[in-house]
Parts: sequence; structure tokens; C-alpha cells
Amino acid sequence: MEISPQELNNLINNLRSKRWFQSKSKEIISTKIIDSLELSKELTIIFLEIEFTDESKEIYFLAVDPSQYNFQDCVQDNQFIFHWLTQLSDENEIQTENKAKISFLENKSSLEEFKITNNSQFHFLNVEQSNSSIIIDKKYIIKILRKLTEGRNPETEILSNLNQFNLNFIPQLLGQIEYRIGNKSFLLASIQEYIENQGDCWEYAVNLIENYFQSSSELKDFDNDETLQSVIQLARGLAQVTAQMHIALSKVENASGFAPENFVDEDLQLIHQEFDSEMRKALPHLAVQNPRNIFTELDELKNSFNTILRELVNKNVQKVRIHGDYHLGQVLKTKSNFIVIDFEGEPLKTLEQRRCKSSPFKDVAGMLRSFDYAILSINKKEQSRINKGLSNELYELLRNEFISAYLLGVKNKNFVFQENALNIQLIKFYEIQKAFYEIVYEANNRPSWLDIPVQVLERLISE
Ligand SMILES: Nc1ncnc2c1ncn2[C@@H]1O[C@H](COP(=O)(O)OP(=O)(O)O)[C@@H](O)[C@H]1O
Ligand SMILES: [Mg+2]
Repeated sequence: MEISPQELNNLINNLRSKRWFQSKSKEIISTKIIDSLELSKELTIIFLEIEFTDESKEIYFLAVDPSQYNFQDCVQDNQFIFHWLTQLSDENEIQTENKAKISFLENKSSLEEFKITNNSQFHFLNVEQSNSSIIIDKKYIIKILRKLTEGRNPETEILSNLNQFNLNFIPQLLGQIEYRIGNKSFLLASIQEYIENQGDCWEYAVNLIENYFQSSSELKDFDNDETLQSVIQLARGLAQVTAQMHIALSKVENASGFAPENFVDEDLQLIHQEFDSEMRKALPHLAVQNPRNIFTELDELKNSFNTILRELVNKNVQKVRIHGDYHLGQVLKTKSNFIVIDFEGEPLKTLEQRRCKSSPFKDVAGMLRSFDYAILSINKKEQSRINKGLSNELYELLRNEFISAYLLGVKNKNFVFQENALNIQLIKFYEIQKAFYEIVYEANNRPSWLDIPVQVLERLISE
């Protein structure tokens, strides 16, 4: 496809305003259309490669209307979705200008078939997302990836493998759309059954916690406080689903990349490296915020973690596939259940890193940190009214409830220690690592929230 420098410039400016455009702060040195496909006179798909001054490259999936002067991405447009999906479901495979293929691959084990008609209704999700999601006829949801990564994507890999078990808390994957050039493949979209829901657990948790804060000023009447009981129920329910998810992930058979494996020395090295790297990035920000000197305490703590990590090898604990980007926003609440979604892993990591086996406590720590954020986000809104002691107590309570229910759910599984004292220490290790990550994130994006991870770090360290 021919595109003038002026048009390309317009398009780049349009991209920079999108949430899913990852490297907003990096300087671009060149852009190149590496492939394209004309769907109609008004619709052309383009694969745009952007090179940055740090020599990194990113590929974006876009659609434009070449008949318009000012190019704007139109992937989130009825016309585009209709044209693209009808053509794909009619032909299964379309060839691009560069003789690559865009294919629709049906998930054989799914019970339902994906079909769109002239009367199909599209609903575009407005949430600020790193992808573009569209609900079709309240039957399907298609998630279109915007930044493309070569290789097996854990989103469809995990969903299709978990679907064998017909779990009621995991959506069915109906199909996926791939871009294939030579022996390289990139996931373009996943198509899942749409599950009617009441929103995600982040909103749900914040609501319940707000109700509780409105009704109580102290955490005393534990058993008789209904608002408190409902928050505890949420923590327990989520812990049970999380345990079931990890058990299912550990049971996937006949799929490469899933079989649980014993931790070996090299794994311990990688775990240490990851922890140290997160810590190093966080320390400069801590030096500013740190009211007392936690650096010496951190050193001592690291030694005690060494001993625990060593036990992973000594006691033949196994590493398993995990969710990888687990928090309250990744679980939907339905009338009677929870639905775990979004198995893509952390978008900033490589696919290889995201598909790594690990201790499932990494996910547990993600969820625990999310509870802390849910509580403290309310404090941020109504700063003066909520007593800090109360929110700390509530967090400790939910954390303990979640951990107990989770450990009960995975009792005697090979991916945890038999001894709960060791399990609790290892969870803490991952919570601290997550707090380091949050410190860097908040320092760069939301400095007024930096106290949230700094405080939890201090608490965890001094426990
Ligand atoms: N199977 C599904 N059924 C219903 N809604 C879904 C489903 N999957 C995703 N969603 C909706 O789409 C939103 C984003 O999905 P997610 O997979 O988390 O995308 P992202 O990677 O952009 O975070 C969710 O918060 C939810 O509202
Ligand atoms: Mg998500």
C-alpha cells in the first residue's frame, strides 16, 4: 500500500493518543508498512513497524480508510469488524499483499460455533484497554491485539488447554485469528464466548469495602457485621477459584509447555535475578520516600528468603504454568460465580517469559496486592474520613482469609510446600517483589499513590 509521508505522520499522531500504543515516551526513528491487505475500497489492514531510537521495534495491527485524507485507525469501527470477520469466517484464510496469511482457526473442543450475520450487533468496550474488545450479539467477545508479538500467545494457549476440563469459571475459546508469514506466527485476536457479568471484581470489591467503611469505624464485631462478612466471602471465593485454576493448570496433559517440573538450581538463580532487578529499580525511589532505613532489613530478609527458595529444590516442589497478570480486574463477577479472564500475561514481558513455569504464589501475591489497592484507593478518595488503622486491619484480615482458603484449596499439591509456614514466607517473597514493581510504576505514573507500595513494603519487611 502506498502512503505519503504526510499521511503516515497523521497516522502516527493518531496512534500516540491510543492507550494500546505502548512506547509513548520513546522517540521514533522510522516507520514502515511491512504488510497490508485491502478488504474493500474503504478498508485496508496495515501492519506497521515502528523503530525507536533505542533500536527496539514494535509492530502494530491497524486498519485505515484510504479514501479519507486524514488517516485514523478504524479497527474499532462497525464496518471494519463486520467486513473482516465475515470474510474470515467465509474463507477461513485471506492472503495479504506480501503473500502472508491471515487465518481464522476454530477451537475444535469448543461447544459453540462462531457465526456473524448481517444483523449482528457490535458493542465496543470503552474501557481503557491494552487491546480492543468487541462484544458481538452478547454471544461472543473478540479481543483484538494491537501490538503484535511473534510466537505462541498464552491467551489462547491457556484458554484452549483449560477448556478440555469444561470449567465453569473459564470462558470457552471459540477461535483465534492469526497472521502467518513464513514460519512466524502472530496472534491477532481471540474469540471467546461472552459471559454475562456484573462487572469485574475490582469494582465489586471496592463497592463492598466502601459499604463496610460506611457502616463501621472499627473492626470489632467480626461475626455480626454483614458488610464485613461479604468482603470476607469475596476473599474466600476468589481464593477457591484461584486454587482451582492452579490445579487445572497443573493437570493439563499432552500439551508441550504445561507439565509441572521440579524446581532446579537454575530456576532459583532466575528467581533471585528477577527479585534483585525489581529491587534495584525501586531503591532510588525508596531512598526518597523511606522514613526509616529499610536497606539493612532488606539484606537480612534476602538471606532468609535464600533459605526458603533452596527448600523448593530440596523438597521437590514443582513449578507450574500460572495466570501471570493476576489481579481483581482479571476476574469477572457473575450472579453465582467468578470468571477468570485475560491469560495474556504481563504485556511488557516477552512471550517466552510469560510462558515460563513458576510458583503459583506469584498469582496469589498479585491478588493480595490488588486487595490492598482496592482498600487504599477508597482512602485516596475520602482521605480524611477513613481511619488508617482500620484499613490496615481490614487488609490483614482479607490477606489471611485469602491465604488460608487458598492453601486449603491446594493442600497436598506438588506445587506448594507441605508446611504452611514455608508457603506463607514464599507468598511474602512475591508480595515484596510486586511492591518493588509498584514503587517504580507509581513513581513514574502516579506519585501521589507511591505511599501505597512503600507502606506495604515496610509492613512486610518488619513482620
Ligand atoms: N469472556 C468474557 N465475557 C464477558 N466479558 C469479557 C470476557 N472477556 C473479557 N471481557 C470484558 O473485556 C474486558 C477486558 O478483557 P481482558 O481480557 O482483561 O482484556 P485486556 O487484556 O485488554 O485487559 C474485561 O474487563 C471484561 O469486561
Ligand atoms: Mg485485563
